[in-house]
Formats: sequence, structure tokens, C-alpha cells
Amino acid sequence: MTQKQWTAVDRYITDMLVPPDPALDAALAASAAAGLPPIAVAPNQGKLLHLLALTRGARNILEIGTLGGYSTIWLARALPTGGRLITLEAEKKHARVARTNIIRAGLADVVEVRLGKALDSLPKLAAEHCGPFDLIFIDADKANIPAYFTWALELSRRGSLIIVDNVVRKGAVIDAASRDPSIQGVRRFNELLAAEPRVSATTIQTVGSKGYDGLTIVLVTGKPAKQPCSRAARAVRTPPEKRRTAKRPRSGNAIQ
Ligand SMILES: C[S@@+](CC[C@H](N)C(=O)[O-])C[C@H]1O[C@@H](n2cnc3c(N)ncnc32)[C@H](O)[C@@H]1O
Repeated sequence: MTQKQWTAVDRYITDMLVPPDPALDAALAASAAAGLPPIAVAPNQGKLLHLLALTRGARNILEIGTLGGYSTIWLARALPTGGRLITLEAEKKHARVARTNIIRAGLADVVEVRLGKALDSLPKLAAEHCGPFDLIFIDADKANIPAYFTWALELSRRGSLIIVDNVVRKGAVIDAASRDPSIQGVRRFNELLAAEPRVSATTIQTVGSKGYDGLTIVLVTGKPAKQPCSRAARAVRTPPEKRRTAKRPRSGNAIQ
């Protein structure tokens, strides 16, 4: 098995199942033209994210690691009317290219690109009551995956999906002695995951045009539902005397 064969099979799958799409193709072309690294998810992986978001019925999506907005567009297209997506990006140029790509895809009203290091943005999202998110895609620097996963849990609810990309790293994930911070980040994440009673998770190894890697899918199984930010914001605006008679939120702990 060779990279050449994986790439050819990926192309075959994409030709069969992922038709050309002007906005997605333009996003990749504009990212390349701007000199962004070619590290977006592959088309068939983007479609997998889209299908997972649809399957989950995600209305509120968080992405950590935007690049040129390619996976952002796939995910945002799964949102129902009134849904929204927040994506976090540390690099100014990447965020600028992504915003243009998102506007071209007609998604400017539903996607917000937040510029800044994700570990600075995540506490702000929590403070603004922007969660819970129905789906969280973690695809930024790998050394910080453990911290991103901890935040993802904080910003999720029972039934949320957390997807983490690039967790096999050409098989190097099994090298306990590795000094690579990315490998150690993935290994520490796996330890957190294994010890976390509030989730059920698995990891799949993948080969394809992006090489040999893998992704982890986590279902949050054990958290009480939190108020979504619109309800929380409304509660903050409502004076306490009126709040007593205000309608209670519809759901308890049910997976929605
Ligand atoms: C693998 S790329 C994301 C690819 C994108 N999800 C896609 O598939 O189209 C990782 C991105 O994360 C960004 N990034 C790296 N460290 C970050 C950090 N600490 N906070 C936010 N973004 C970061 C990088 O600048 C890069 O654009």
C-alpha cells in the first residue's frame, strides 16, 4: 500500500460521491493562492463532518482551527435555519481568507470567525454563554488537544458530538517516548478520554490523500443539558421578579 494508491482511491471516492462544488472548490483555490498550507480536511472527510452534523441535527457548532474555512463550510451547510457556527483561528491571514471564502459560500450570516488563540477564545465563549454546542470539531494545534477537549466538554451537553482530527499521526501515537509535543498532546488526550466517565468514544485510523492518520469521535453521554446562550441571555435581561413567572426551559436531561 502506498500514498499514491491511497490518493487514487480517495480521488475515486470523491469523484463518485462528492460532486464538484463551486464554493468549496473556490475556498481551496483561494487558500492555496494566499499561501495557506494544504492541510484542510479532504473532500470525503469534509462530507463526513457534514453528514455527522446532519445526523446529530446540530444547530450550534463550534470549530477549533479554521484555516481557510473549508471544513467550516462543510459543517455550516448542515445547519438548519436559525443555526450557527463559531470557528476559532489564531492566524490573521487564515481568518481573513476564511471570511472571504465563507462570504462567497453565502454563509456570512451563520458563521462567525473569531480571531485569536483558541485557549483565549474558549473562556470567552463560556463567559458569553455561547454553549452548549451540539457538535465541536477540534482541528488546531495538536499539543493543546487535551485542553481543547476539556473545554469542549465544558461547552457541550448530553448528546453532543466532539470530533478530533489527526490523532494517529502516521502511527506515531503509540510511541510513548516521543518528544513531539503533538504526539504527547494526542496521548494525553487519550488518557483523559479513557478516564472520562461522561463520554463514549472511539478512534478510527484513516488513509487517503492526506496520508495515514485518524480521527476520534466522542459522544457526550453523561452531562446535564445547559441553557443555550439565547435563553441564558434572556434570563440575564429578565428582572428577577418577572423571572419567577417566566416559562421553564422545555428540556431536562434528554438528548435532543
Ligand atoms: C489543520 S488546520 C485547520 C483545517 C480546517 N479545519 C479545515 O479542515 O479546513 C489548523 C488551523 O488551526 C490554526 N491554529 C493553530 N494553533 C491555533 C491556536 N492556538 N488557536 C487557534 N487556531 C490555531 C492554524 O493557524 C490552522 O489554520
